[in-house]
Amino acid sequence: MSKIREAIPQAVTVPSLRGRKGRDKIVMMTAYDYPSARIAEDAGADVLLVGDSLGMVVQGQGDTLSVTLDQMAYHCSMVSRAARRALVVADMPFLTYHTGWQDAVRNCGRCFQEGGVQAVKIEGGRRRAALIRRLVASDMPVLGHIGLTPQSLHHLGGFKVQGKSLEAARGLVDDARAVEEAGAFAVVLECIPMEVAAEITAAVSIPTVGIGAGPNCDGQVLVFHDLLGLYDGRLPRFVRRYGDFGRQMREALARFREDVRSGAFPAEAESFHLPEEVAVHFEEGNRRADPASR
Ligand code: KIV
Repeated sequence: MSKIREAIPQAVTVPSLRGRKGRDKIVMMTAYDYPSARIAEDAGADVLLVGDSLGMVVQGQGDTLSVTLDQMAYHCSMVSRAARRALVVADMPFLTYHTGWQDAVRNCGRCFQEGGVQAVKIEGGRRRAALIRRLVASDMPVLGHIGLTPQSLHHLGGFKVQGKSLEAARGLVDDARAVEEAGAFAVVLECIPMEVAAEITAAVSIPTVGIGAGPNCDGQVLVFHDLLGLYDGRLPRFVRRYGDFGRQMREALARFREDVRSGAFPAEAESFHLPEEVAVHFEEGNRRADPASR
């Protein structure tokens, strides 16, 4: 199912992305299906992240924990089918990499084989370094993710800014270094003070991609539905909404409803006719069957 990406002009690859550190800012957007991936790529996304945020913005759950491997592989396959240039990354769901490295290799492998992705994302810093090393050694490029890691929601006590104390800030720098040393090709920094993100960006040789981490990262990522105003849940402070498409969609659908009720839809141009020679016999036959209609 996957294309030979090197053969596609300007295709974003893991090495090309790494090479952009400190040069071009990386634009990452989440996508969960064919239309969202087509739209995000046409808008210039370098990376399409099939985020486990799909649990919240697509499935309507309160967190990301219930997303399964089957669901992730399915959504990745839709996004991969749409992507021509962008790098597609599977966000490995909760419990798919927590039960030992062999399970993790097998589960990540499914996202490559069935989902057609080019990389996987794993949440966690130092505590995931050994696993990242195993995955990279198994030829699976890894995007790290540190700071607010939503799968640790209950451990962290909520969706809160991380790294605010001196010790925690230093811990995040250590996490980023560990992820880099383990072989990750880039690292997402979520919801951390901008000073800490700037320090991490300077301290590691791999690109940092921020979400709620201030402007001094090598790239930025936001969730598709948050960006476009398609999510009606509470938005974090770090989100900037670039559209109100939920409202526009409601208005369009309400116009459809009105047209159906008033009979204005469908019109002649949206309807089909029998061929004339068939119509004559059809109507004649109907009249014979129902003489009252004469
Ligand atoms: O699940 C997700 O969409 C993410 C990004 C927001 C980084 O992990």
